[in-house]
Amino acid sequence: MPRAKSSDFSSFCGTGHPAGPSGWGSGASAGAPASHPDVRRRDYNVRVTALPDGYPIELERKITLRDGTVVSIRPILPDDAARLQELHGRLSRDTAYQRFFAIVKRLPPDWARVLATVDYRRRLALVVEAPAGAGPELIAVGRYDAVGEPDIAEVAFVVQDSWQNRGLGTILFEEILRAAAARSYRRFRAFVLADNRRMLDLITRFTRVESRTSEHGVTELVFGLLPERVGVSA
Ligand SMILES: CC(C)(COP(=O)(O)OP(=O)(O)OC[C@H]1O[C@@H](n2cnc3c(N)ncnc32)[C@H](O)[C@@H]1OP(=O)(O)O)[C@@H](O)C(=O)NCCC(=O)NCCS
Repeated sequence: MPRAKSSDFSSFCGTGHPAGPSGWGSGASAGAPASHPDVRRRDYNVRVTALPDGYPIELERKITLRDGTVVSIRPILPDDAARLQELHGRLSRDTAYQRFFAIVKRLPPDWARVLATVDYRRRLALVVEAPAGAGPELIAVGRYDAVGEPDIAEVAFVVQDSWQNRGLGTILFEEILRAAAARSYRRFRAFVLADNRRMLDLITRFTRVESRTSEHGVTELVFGLLPERVGVSA
């Protein structure tokens, strides 16, 4: 199992943390970004009165899945913390384990807060919303975190079980790589369970793998962009 690093509070993909769940928030300098002075109401599903500084509104869009379902993708907001906990509560044990490499029954609030609070540059997460009964709910999250190393961003993804195998993971993967490339990150790291064929295949298909090492059932991949695969200029 890879050792926890300073950036692990954000992507957590298979890494443990010496402090355990209750310590997740304490080690991270993840204060909520200041609200934008102009109160900008968004024509969007989430009730927010102001967007955080640096919120990349250009990353908001609708996407149509293979089966024709239309969902919305947007950058994460600090007030998504509770929605992240709800999403986590809907994940199967296997999916949650593939994401966090640990049995995390309930996403602790401080952990959710850290995950929901990003600076949109060195740490960025995109969430996918689907319309549901009482209101929209999160069904997927993709993120990168470049806090630990200056030129490399660690990525992590999760798609709610009932939404898997509809092409969403692929779209999210491309979107995160594209957003990272626009912020000058072109090299990435991912920790993936060695038997997680789907994620390993996704990385192999869309990127140029530079190194791949496995230890204790976890594969660490370092990979670069294949610009033609993610639609960015070389
Ligand atoms: C990995 C994950 C994000 C992929 O999301 P998804 O929405 O299911 O992905 P897609 O629907 O785009 O499918 C990706 C590809 O995997 C293929 N696939 C599906 N099941 C597969 C399996 N058991 N083995 C290998 N490939 C598989 C799909 O056919 C698809 O390829 P295609 O586009 O050629 O059809 C999702 O499965 C997930 O959340 N897993 C749990 C968390 C996780 O593993 N995170 C990665 C570690 S950070």
